[in-house]
Amino acid sequence: MTLRPWRIDDAQAALDVYGQAEVTRWLSPDMDRVPDLAAMRLWLQQWIAECARLRAPAGRWAIQRNTDDQVIGGAILLPLPPGDEDLEIGWQLRPDVWGNGYATETAHAIAGWAFSQNVDEVFAVIRPGNGRAAATVRNNGMHWVGETTKYYGIELQVFRLRVADLDQAAPKALQPLNISGD
Ligand SMILES: CC(C)(COP(=O)(O)OP(=O)(O)OC[C@H]1O[C@@H](n2cnc3c(N)ncnc32)[C@H](O)[C@@H]1OP(=O)(O)O)[C@@H](O)C(=O)NCCC(=O)NCCS
Repeated sequence: MTLRPWRIDDAQAALDVYGQAEVTRWLSPDMDRVPDLAAMRLWLQQWIAECARLRAPAGRWAIQRNTDDQVIGGAILLPLPPGDEDLEIGWQLRPDVWGNGYATETAHAIAGWAFSQNVDEVFAVIRPGNGRAAATVRNNGMHWVGETTKYYGIELQVFRLRVADLDQAAPKALQPLNISGD
């Protein structure tokens, strides 16, 4: 897979991800289900503008599968509100591709990218009940920190990954993944 910047012409592929309630139910209050292409284009415009303001290693990427060049999801590495000090790692995939290890592979690649840029730790914040996401972060060697409401005002489970944890998880990871800034 390749992680690359979003483009406006990804709108249909993105809608196939973010138009699905089973994906966005875990993202609210940050993002509700996207109802149509026009709304998806607006989100993409915002994400592209946001990316232009972000400093590396933070970013927002489309996840493109190399075997067929299809965009199958999105991934983030973003500062967590309110302090913008902790970096949150996250991913959203089209439901028909769940269960192939793509999220585990993506998380491993983004964390590796962050650690190559002098970041010591990254966090995942997961809504209680999101068992798939919790399994994904544990597959990547992330450790349970606790529950908090400090980030978005709702109860979230916090997991942390440090460099040594990633090294331990490496044998479980799949193929290396490209992160492209083009
Ligand atoms: C979270 C998400 C990215 C995971 O995608 P995925 O392709 O299923 O992930 P993977 O295949 O890499 O791993 C999923 C793991 O969950 C496990 N799993 C599947 N269903 C599960 C369930 N109901 N409860 C607990 N674990 C479950 C799988 O067995 C697998 O673990 P394993 O490899 O040890 O067997 C995807 O489900 C998604 O897009 N969800 C909506 C958005 C979201 O919640 N994002 C996370 C927060 S940003």
